[in-house]
Amino acid sequence: MTSSLKGKDIIRADQFAPEEIALIMETAARFESVMRAEGRLLNMAGRVLATLFYEPSTRTRLSFETAMLRLGGQVLSVAEAKTSSSAAKGETLFDTGKMIEGYADVAVIRHPVTGSAQELADGAAIPVLNGGDGAGQHPTQALLDLYTIRKEKGGVEGLTITLAGDLKNGRTVHSLSQLLANFGVRFNFVAPDALAMPAEITAGLRERGVKVQETTDLAAALAQTDVLYMTRIQKERFSDPAEYEQLKGAYVLDAALVNGAKPGMIVLHPLPRVDEIKKEVDDLPGAAYFRQAANGVPVRMALLALTTGRE
Ligand code: NCD
Repeated sequence: MTSSLKGKDIIRADQFAPEEIALIMETAARFESVMRAEGRLLNMAGRVLATLFYEPSTRTRLSFETAMLRLGGQVLSVAEAKTSSSAAKGETLFDTGKMIEGYADVAVIRHPVTGSAQELADGAAIPVLNGGDGAGQHPTQALLDLYTIRKEKGGVEGLTITLAGDLKNGRTVHSLSQLLANFGVRFNFVAPDALAMPAEITAGLRERGVKVQETTDLAAALAQTDVLYMTRIQKERFSDPAEYEQLKGAYVLDAALVNGAKPGMIVLHPLPRVDEIKKEVDDLPGAAYFRQAANGVPVRMALLALTTGRE
């Protein structure tokens, strides 16, 4: 049977079968080349995407919205959902989900609470895509990260991937490590002790036979690194501002560090960056983070079309 994502929610990066990942990558590549040639497609003509963002976002919201527009669909958007939607009156996400299925064909949610996307999905009969739930998961980002690695490096199998920064609170690295576990990669996890990758994620990867090395030494890890994934210290997840002040600036990537790294290393970052990648790195050939952001469009086009059966 060929795999299908029709009617499915996208909530976690560890929900995918390998055939589903392959289908998403192929569909994104196909959409990207048609979009290059023709500007847009019409797969989602007459369909509506609802975006519910209860937390700040630039890339995720804009790339989902442009993805829908480039598929010929339309977008309904609750900006600043936290203050302007009925959540401020106490409506549960389950009820919001029940309601939204009457208005849209597919929905994207970003929310500060882990598990929130699942709650919306439990209420909604339409596909719900998780655009980031607290310090939990960010599966659509992980898929565009994978798409980027394949494009930049020609494949994923056998690569050494270094995830650096706030691995505790960063949802992108939770999802990305679980997604890449399907591809025979090895990991370096570089973080201050207080911001290490959650033990259950590391244990889960090791149980799947993935090699994981944990260290605090970024420079040493870079000698063996094919893909460096830098992340921001997630200020908004700290209850104690003093702790954030102490940990911010823990890792700063500059041109000297990149030039001392394994030749051909690429640098990714989900963005926004604060101070963890110096601007001087932007001009180096391995700096792929802005290309990575652009890849969000075809990957999110694929997710919108596949979950609604319009691919
Ligand atoms: C990330 C997020 O929201 O988790 N941003 C994004 O979606 N590209 C990373 C971050 O905010 O640090």
